[in-house]
Amino acid sequence: MLARNTLRLASRSGARRAIGATPLSRSFFSSPKSTDPALIQEHSVPVSSYNQGLRTSDELKVEHTGPVTTAVHDIETRAVPLKKDVHATLTPTLAKFTLPGKVAIVTGAGRGLGFNMAQALAEVGVRGIAIMDVQQELGDKAAHELSAQTGIDVRFYRVDVRDGHAMGQTVQDVVDHYGQLDILINAAGIADSNMKAETYDHEKFRRLLDINITGSFLVAQACGQAMIKSGRGGSIINIASMSGSVVNYPQEQSCYNASKAAVIQLTKSLAAEWARYGIRVNSISPGYMDTALNRVPTLEGQKRIWIDHTPQKRLGCVDDLNNLAVYLASDGSSFMTGNNCIIDGGYTLW
Ligand SMILES: NC(=O)c1ccc[n+]([C@@H]2O[C@H](COP(=O)([O-])OP(=O)(O)OC[C@H]3O[C@@H](n4cnc5c(N)ncnc54)[C@H](O)[C@@H]3O)[C@@H](O)[C@H]2O)c1
Repeated sequence: MLARNTLRLASRSGARRAIGATPLSRSFFSSPKSTDPALIQEHSVPVSSYNQGLRTSDELKVEHTGPVTTAVHDIETRAVPLKKDVHATLTPTLAKFTLPGKVAIVTGAGRGLGFNMAQALAEVGVRGIAIMDVQQELGDKAAHELSAQTGIDVRFYRVDVRDGHAMGQTVQDVVDHYGQLDILINAAGIADSNMKAETYDHEKFRRLLDINITGSFLVAQACGQAMIKSGRGGSIINIASMSGSVVNYPQEQSCYNASKAAVIQLTKSLAAEWARYGIRVNSISPGYMDTALNRVPTLEGQKRIWIDHTPQKRLGCVDDLNNLAVYLASDGSSFMTGNNCIIDGGYTLW
């Protein structure tokens, strides 16, 4: 209705302008003036429905104002496995979003976003998940919980992503144990905030880059080698950040921002190199998420500014990346590689 009105008004206005002027310079406008009341005072929209070829019509009442939601929904942390008989009833499109019988590695899945994405993989049919994390206690707890919730075979490897040698052997052990490797989610990472560039400690700078970018590469390399060797391809998902595309405000964090920009460019480079092996590589760039990474006293005051600068007026929930991760891991995204998907409640729009 709106589009039709817009066009009708545009051509009328074009015709009016043509009278008395040279016809060769006639103009058409496709965008209305925002003050035109006919375009902003629609209170109902006619709707035509077709059911088995039969038409019914209705009218949709239009409300022009509504409350803005600022609530963060409660997080359901319990994963529910996909039942085989349910999978058998899925339409082809829905089935593409599932991962029956696949095997995944998720780094940094001892807690937070990594653990939640591991839960999501378990909910869409993955049969084996290897959690890799540097924190023994967290990793054990996460693996225990995930296997207890879903009944799938979960392994925990306490390994630092910076240790390329150990990573190679760990990935080989995953392949030996499960017989295959299809998915990697590279979520391990750290953040340093409120660090002025002019006084940034050199060792801290190097350490962060070593974990966030070199670590992401070493894990991707070990998994890429296994996927290439198998000849079955795979999907690699790097967790970058919106900080790889914009500079955060107000906290100063040059190293983190640089590390995540590097993760995005690494993603594109690997995607280009490994497409020939059927390996897709994409990244997810979250905005501000409500995880332990951000639950530090020095950031409390700044959180209000982050929320204020986010059009959706909230932090991301710890499970807000789950469906995107499933999509990128699955055949639903089979023609998508080298992409950086920003998921930030609109933060980077402003
Ligand atoms: N929380 C956010 O607002 C946010 C925003 C954008 C991007 N990210 C990114 O998402 C990823 C996950 O963040 P999160 O909020 O869940 O953080 P988190 O701190 O809750 O979890 C990160 C996990 O990574 C593990 N880890 C850290 N260093 C490691 C290493 N060297 N080797 C192996 N494991 C290691 C930690 O033990 C931890 O379990 C990180 O890469 C982070 O940079 C987070």
